[in-house]
Amino acid sequence: MTQRDENEGTIRRCSADDSTDILSIINAAAEAYRGVIPPDRWHEPYMPAGELAAELADGVAFSGYRVKDRLIGVMGVQELHNVDLIRHAYVLPDRQGQGIGSRLLRHLCQDATRPILIGTWAAADWAIRFYERHGFARVEESSVAPLLTAYWNVPERQIATSVVLSSPPLSHDGAGRLIAVRRRKGRDSAWESDDPHASKGVASMMIECRSALQPDRPAIIRTKTPVSPHRFQRLLSVL
Ligand SMILES: CC(C)(COP(=O)(O)OP(=O)(O)OC[C@H]1O[C@@H](n2cnc3c(N)ncnc32)[C@H](O)[C@@H]1OP(=O)(O)O)[C@@H](O)C(=O)NCCC(=O)NCCS
Repeated sequence: MTQRDENEGTIRRCSADDSTDILSIINAAAEAYRGVIPPDRWHEPYMPAGELAAELADGVAFSGYRVKDRLIGVMGVQELHNVDLIRHAYVLPDRQGQGIGSRLLRHLCQDATRPILIGTWAAADWAIRFYERHGFARVEESSVAPLLTAYWNVPERQIATSVVLSSPPLSHDGAGRLIAVRRRKGRDSAWESDDPHASKGVASMMIECRSALQPDRPAIIRTKTPVSPHRFQRLLSVL
């Protein structure tokens, strides 16, 4: 997907080849956090290469703003069961405040059909204002920890020092309903899990399937939800 804008910048999906540039943008832009976020949450580099690789493997899809093929800003989307998360929004320091983050955010939100959630540091008031200007609203404090626990994989200390913003705005009850659906869908889609060990249910059901296989006869294994051949092979490979 490509979109031209008036400054000749182009927004398009990043590929695995962009990982080094994504990392340098994140780590340069994250300097904004130095001395602002709690000192025990600051580390260098802010995002190590292994963490970015894990985020990509976890389904975070980055889009990048490029000028003459040089990556200037990045923003990721992670589609979860019933929400989209905006993850890792960073623009090179000398290009911040020029509307690039706004374009990336609008681009990623334009086709959204589900609630969009963003988590950021409570102390990053500029980032909170940035999102608020784009129609996001902070969820109530009592919903922050339940949402972060349900949709993110962050340590307790980070939960205590973060805020969550949502578009459209989310009431306390609305957040509770989202989380309940997410938990239910999470169980239903266990068959589709990328990690065959993610659910004991999956492992034990697959073992039952295997014990039913006849070596001399092709077997038909039915799954509750569609499973791609690739995922199915991965599930079988752990048995
Ligand atoms: C937040 C960020 C992605 C926004 O991208 P951007 O290209 O600067 O965004 P825009 O130019 O479209 O809008 C920037 C607005 O936010 C403010 N802003 C953004 N970053 C700021 C910063 N580090 N310090 C102060 N204000 C900042 C600008 O004043 C501007 O306000 P305005 O619209 O009233 O002029 C980018 O500034 C950035 O990388 N910041 C540091 C890292 C960060 O906080 N990331 C958010 C992680 S959730």
